[in-house]
Amino acid sequence: MKPPLKIAVAGLGTVGAGTLKLLQDQAELLAERGGRRIVVTAVSARDRRRDRGVELSAVRWYEDATAMAADPEIDVVVELIGGADGIARQVVDAALDHGKHVVTANKALMAHHGTRLAARAEERSLALSFEAAVAGGIPVIKALREGLAGNRLERVYGILNGTSNYILTTMRETGREFAEVLAEAQKLGYAEADPSFDIDGVDAAHKLAILASVGFGRPVDLAGVYAEGIRHVSRLDIDFAEELGYRIKLLGIARRTEDGLEQRVHPCMVSRATPIAAVEGVFNAVVAEGDFVGRVVLEGRGAGAFPTASSVAADLVDIAAGRRVAPFGVPAAALAPLPGAPPGGSMDTPGGNYPGTTQSGVPHYG
Ligand SMILES: NC(=O)c1ccc[n+]([C@@H]2O[C@H](COP(=O)([O-])OP(=O)(O)OC[C@H]3O[C@@H](n4cnc5c(N)ncnc54)[C@H](OP(=O)(O)O)[C@@H]3O)[C@@H](O)[C@H]2O)c1
Repeated sequence: MKPPLKIAVAGLGTVGAGTLKLLQDQAELLAERGGRRIVVTAVSARDRRRDRGVELSAVRWYEDATAMAADPEIDVVVELIGGADGIARQVVDAALDHGKHVVTANKALMAHHGTRLAARAEERSLALSFEAAVAGGIPVIKALREGLAGNRLERVYGILNGTSNYILTTMRETGREFAEVLAEAQKLGYAEADPSFDIDGVDAAHKLAILASVGFGRPVDLAGVYAEGIRHVSRLDIDFAEELGYRIKLLGIARRTEDGLEQRVHPCMVSRATPIAAVEGVFNAVVAEGDFVGRVVLEGRGAGAFPTASSVAADLVDIAAGRRVAPFGVPAAALAPLPGAPPGGSMDTPGGNYPGTTQSGVPHYG
């Protein structure tokens, strides 16, 4: 067997601790699949005394995650801190500058800086892997980039935010209003104290911008995503939709139109007969429509320590095995900017006013 792949993990919170546990419990399996052992050599987080649920006494601890990214012994830096800028960005930049492969779960970072980072990684023949950044445990990046490589995609859409989906599902099931269900979700730990990233569609917009780049071979264009969240969805909307045979879902939608690429996130009425309508609670789903394959539906857990760790591990096994693809499916220089198309089209107009629209203007989809 080849020498082990030595990794450094920056961030030991929900995803970081889950990843350490997976790497420990599945060590043999991963070694078989990657052709070499994956060994955690260094870690960094803020609080050294905090129990992470795994043995770290033999692992080098760094107070400074950016310094860790320069450690000559390390092959791969796994960035699990979060945030578009600040320390996460410094760690990833330092890792690429020092010739380390990067694995990250950070959708904000990839949505804001993905194209630049991909170009940097490519220049240095390094991996920049981000399966965990979109839809947690669902291997959607790999599915679009590799599994559907033989297709021109027409449309990619999905339920990309588990918190919003949980709130909408609970509102429908319990007949309660948005504010009440949000407060409960916060108590249960399903929603952050500041929930705006989730409920205002920002998190889904990050993921959609990444998906659109992978699916349509264009640079990541977060500014081109129209985003509206679920704050204004009322119980009455949900009841009306139900009566008409629909469910309200927060969808992220990217599609090729005559004018270019349309990217939008907003609440939609989806027919109860479609598979996506049955995706409830914290689950995510992604639907891709390709010209040769037709429709592909992927569903699973879009967040959580172990599902997200599952995606991090898949990226690490690829690196261990030497499987390398361009981060967005084509070389960074070949990412062709399609013009951004405004959200349009009669039935698909966010907030449009047409038969079947609910009172607050939730459009149909599906
Ligand atoms: N949670 C999920 O289900 C999920 C799913 C998919 C993707 N993601 C993404 O995964 C990333 C991590 O999310 P998370 O939920 O695991 O976050 P988290 O629980 O808040 O963990 C963040 C970790 O980063 C560490 N950290 C903060 N500042 C640091 C610094 N300056 N230097 C070193 N470490 C630092 C924290 O240290 P301490 O522990 O010492 O405070 C903590 O261990 C984010 O990009 C998130 O978007 C999360």
